[in-house]
Amino acid sequence: MKFLIINGPNLNLLGKREPGIYGENSYESLCRRLKEFAAAHGSTAECVQSNHEGAILDAIHAADGVYDAIVLNPGAYTHYSYAILDALKAVDVPCIEVHISNVHQREEFRHRSVTAPACVGQICGLGLYGYEAAMSYFLWNEKESRENPHG
Ligand code: DQA
Repeated sequence: MKFLIINGPNLNLLGKREPGIYGENSYESLCRRLKEFAAAHGSTAECVQSNHEGAILDAIHAADGVYDAIVLNPGAYTHYSYAILDALKAVDVPCIEVHISNVHQREEFRHRSVTAPACVGQICGLGLYGYEAAMSYFLWNEKESRENPHG
């Protein structure tokens, strides 16, 4: 499968940013790991990160017809970006939303995701493993529909 991993604002600072919440691994090492994970499953993963909402919209639009699945951590945009919600609805690429931290154990404003309704599902609180968990789901789902096309 061809995966597009999109990380939103401040996630380029992984490893440096609030390590007690987001861990000590850098964004670069996360991307390396996800590419390795994809390769080990006969797949590819492209990683993009932006601190700008418009660039995230552009990446989602450009994914249409190019990638099989999107794994998206919209960062704080999760909680208020109707534009990302609409972009996800506008394309034909399934998306899973990932949050490194358990947003439900944190401030009230983090409990609501405006983007999750356009996603297959949401994973939160599993640390960086959440990205691999999302990719694993898509790989499982693809195998399932190949082997069992009529359900
Ligand atoms: C986050 C949670 C968001 O509330 C926060 O704004 C982030 C990261 C997470 O991965 O846990 O930037 O999406």
